[in-house]
Amino acid sequence: MSDVKKVMIPDLHGMKKEGRKITMITAYSYPQALIVDEAGIDVILVGDSLGMVELGYRDTVPVTMEEMLGHTRAVMRGVRRAHVVGDMPFMSYNISREQAVANAGVLYKDGGADSVKLEGGQDMAPVVSAIVKAGIPVFGHIGLTPQTANLLGGFKVQGKSLDQARRVVDDALALQEAGAFAIVLEAIPRQLAALITEKLDIPTIGIGGGLECDGQVLVLHDMVGLFRRFTPKFVKVYADVYSIQLDAVRKYVSEVQSKAFPADEHTFTMKDDAVAELRKSLGL
Ligand code: KIV
Repeated sequence: MSDVKKVMIPDLHGMKKEGRKITMITAYSYPQALIVDEAGIDVILVGDSLGMVELGYRDTVPVTMEEMLGHTRAVMRGVRRAHVVGDMPFMSYNISREQAVANAGVLYKDGGADSVKLEGGQDMAPVVSAIVKAGIPVFGHIGLTPQTANLLGGFKVQGKSLDQARRVVDDALALQEAGAFAIVLEAIPRQLAALITEKLDIPTIGIGGGLECDGQVLVLHDMVGLFRRFTPKFVKVYADVYSIQLDAVRKYVSEVQSKAFPADEHTFTMKDDAVAELRKSLGL
């Protein structure tokens, strides 16, 4: 029996009330899940960012339900404590409420995720409400929404003008009203994120939202230096895992070529007389 206590949604709400920061990070595979869970992360997001950082797509738009399902299952096998959120890919919830509920059900029931996340504010509130009514907890995501970045004029900070800021506040309130249990605030001014955090009862998790959010989320590959195509301003790079892996593989290539690997300790042997017998029988 495991004595690890799983992080539940009331725990996250309690953390907001008590002013304890919520930690959230992405993971897409079994070994990544083992690492971030052991590190004590509260919430793991199987983000559709996997399309860019694991699958090599240009952006998150091409990610499919099949891909999200496979990665969600892999992460679930490695997690004991953290709350796991399965991200709904573009066009898995945008066509109808029925489609959204069915696909949320796939990540929740077949994938084993503890909740699902989708992007969008007031327009998506009826969809959020339908998924919650079906019994599946929903994490919102507003501000810069990468799946629809083209509509926002690209990957830009959102909510800088008063009008835009009011829209982001209304998005947050609409999601809370629809039953979302937490909201990601991506790339919005710190002051706006602080006001939304004060106004809402549910936790806000910032990624480019500043210190006043109830918690922070980063993409794992960004913060360990594994994704090098570009690094947004809100990312802090804590390690250079790309260089560590590159050095290791280069050393392996060189040691195979120079016959330094495998050494005796990596090698199996048989008795000399058996080798001699075999050699004779093979006419060598
Ligand atoms: O897919 C993702 O990783 C995300 C985070 C940027 C919040 O949505």
